[in-house]
Amino acid sequence: MTALKGLILSGGKGTRLRPITHTSAKQLVPVANKPVLFYGIEAMAAAGIEQVGIIIAPETGDEIRAAAGDGSRFGVEITYIVQDEPAGLAHAVLTAEPFLGRDPFVMYLGDNLLQGGIKELVAQFESANPEALILLTPVPDPEHYGVAELDGDRVVALAEKPPEPKTNLALVGVYLFSPVIHDAARAIEPSARGELEITDAIQHLVDKGARVEPHIVEGWWKDTGRLDDMLEANRLILDNLQTRVEGELIESTVEGRVVIEKGAVLERSAVRGPAIIGAGTRLIDCYVGPYSAIAEDCVVEAAEIEHSILLAGSKVRHLEGRMESSLLGRNVTISRDEGRQPRAYRFMVGDNSEIGIL
Ligand code: DAU
Repeated sequence: MTALKGLILSGGKGTRLRPITHTSAKQLVPVANKPVLFYGIEAMAAAGIEQVGIIIAPETGDEIRAAAGDGSRFGVEITYIVQDEPAGLAHAVLTAEPFLGRDPFVMYLGDNLLQGGIKELVAQFESANPEALILLTPVPDPEHYGVAELDGDRVVALAEKPPEPKTNLALVGVYLFSPVIHDAARAIEPSARGELEITDAIQHLVDKGARVEPHIVEGWWKDTGRLDDMLEANRLILDNLQTRVEGELIESTVEGRVVIEKGAVLERSAVRGPAIIGAGTRLIDCYVGPYSAIAEDCVVEAAEIEHSILLAGSKVRHLEGRMESSLLGRNVTISRDEGRQPRAYRFMVGDNSEIGIL
């Protein structure tokens, strides 16, 4: 066990994944049929952290509470902390100060996924004892992230989404802090986007001569904020799937790493892994190909799906072409009326949706 506390940031607006997250928190969008947020909680539990604070927004907080509960099923104790407005990551830290007290902590952005967990990082932080340990990874588009400049194993400068990044080292959304971060968060001013940036608070520590150590991430890391990232995160997680077939197979075949949850029914269908089929889902006369995650209570009939995510209650029927690289929200229906003449497309789609006919 460690004395570190955990802080998971699950507030914010989540505008980029609209309409998927229009009515629900982006941290609850499933990756391989499990909410992104749960991977962070599990990583904390695996590192021996017992007390986890979760920052929630007033609009989406109830859904997060309902999903994660008191934490007992993860083996942690969860305290929910309401942040009235998404005023930035450093603002979230200050909001959590009554929970964190003077304890060191791991901060984990609720929409991030980090392969390999945080156990080693906790060990590194506890033995080296710096004021902050930040995670970095080279990315092709550093202008979309916090960016760090290093001098050997010391962090010398940080910038939040700089238009002209000086390096390609992006800040990964997992940070380890000593309690001096609270004073740093109090000392800074809001950024151009009007937020109290954690990147600026860490820069403040650097300016004060505090020890800020970098850790270069070796495995993969994903910020799941955008559709393509979601699909990739899904792919990466599914790659490590352990086969488990508990549903019912009627004249159907499964190949490769596949999970068929209890209560799922496959009739005259083929599933080629890695893929996961949720409880209560029915696949009839269809093919589900690699890197697909089909949530609970979906129906796929006379259709082919590959490299896609379907959220709970969605239905896909009688498609002529294969559906691929798609993300369907909850209770979406896509179907073709086979006999109808003249043929036409008919859409009823919410705001900010995207349909590609390829
Ligand atoms: O993903 C890594 C990046 O995360 C870093 O490279 C950046 O330096 C860091 O600022 C952050 O950038 P984003 O713009 O991607 O952060 P985002 O607004 O998406 O918020 C990250 C998580 O924190 C998300 O789960 C929502 C939550 N959040 C966000 C804000 C602004 C809060 O809980 N409260 C907030 O006030």
